Amino acid sequence: MNNELNRGLFITGTDTGVGKTVVAAALAAWCRAQGLNVGVMKPIATGGHRARTAGSARVISKDARWLVRAAQAQDPWTLVNPVCYQEPLAPLTAARRCRQPIRLDQVQQAFERLAARHDLVIVEGIGGLLVPLTWQASVLDLAKGFRLPVVLVSRPQLGTLNHTLLSLACLRSARLPVAGVIFNAARPSSGRGPGRVAEHTNPELIRRLGRVAILGRIPHVAWSARSGAGAPWARRRRQLAQLAARHLASEFLAGLRGS
Ligand SMILES: Nc1ncnc2c1ncn2[C@@H]1O[C@H](COP(=O)(O)OP(=O)(O)O)[C@@H](O)[C@H]1O
Ligand SMILES: [Mg+2]
Repeated sequence: MNNELNRGLFITGTDTGVGKTVVAAALAAWCRAQGLNVGVMKPIATGGHRARTAGSARVISKDARWLVRAAQAQDPWTLVNPVCYQEPLAPLTAARRCRQPIRLDQVQQAFERLAARHDLVIVEGIGGLLVPLTWQASVLDLAKGFRLPVVLVSRPQLGTLNHTLLSLACLRSARLPVAGVIFNAARPSSGRGPGRVAEHTNPELIRRLGRVAILGRIPHVAWSARSGAGAPWARRRRQLAQLAARHLASEFLAGLRGS
């Protein structure tokens, strides 16, 4: 397992909605429960809401809020979520529509300042790897700049082979270090029949064809009223940390601890 894991991780996904935030929050909550000095970052987000923080109004993303609550982070929003647009669009489109291009040099600086404050930083990307951020750079370039091992979050269901293998090929051609793949059931399992067979067989195919470590499979969780939206965060944090502890490979988690 990659011995660079204890500097942090860049969490990307095969798509939007695959569970990057849930996985990143589970990892952050687990690190926090282990007493690690973990920071979190959602460098670029869209679909943010206006909020008052420390006396000034800014646009903050829901994902960034999740990560901050999961890690109980105390860092300023300018470091945790330096770029956030209100329109829930692809970042380049949102940036063009409000004439505020993404300055990747500033995002990189925010990451470096955050990394200096923490032993490890869990970073959630946006969309998938080839989502453009400027006319020149994509999420892949952002991950390259951060020089963190990449975790790819994938759907377990039918259709995942193409998306997962394409994403892995993309990471490899950019020579990015790949920590492995986490399968996350953002949607309930397919029940019986071929859908179920696909879910059971896809991870092994991806492990062999993608020559990649499978770091775990997170099941679909019924966020109840007790642990879902509106639930106290102490409870949700526990549930997220348990998801990581129960469903992710122990040697992967040990790598985050640096042991
Ligand atoms: N394992 C899971 N169990 C239940 N719901 C999940 C799970 N993973 C993700 N979800 C839900 O699916 C939706 C998309 O997940 P999210 O983490 O926001 O994806 P992404 O960050 O990749 O866009 C959210 O509503 C989230 O609560
Ligand atoms: Mg997200």
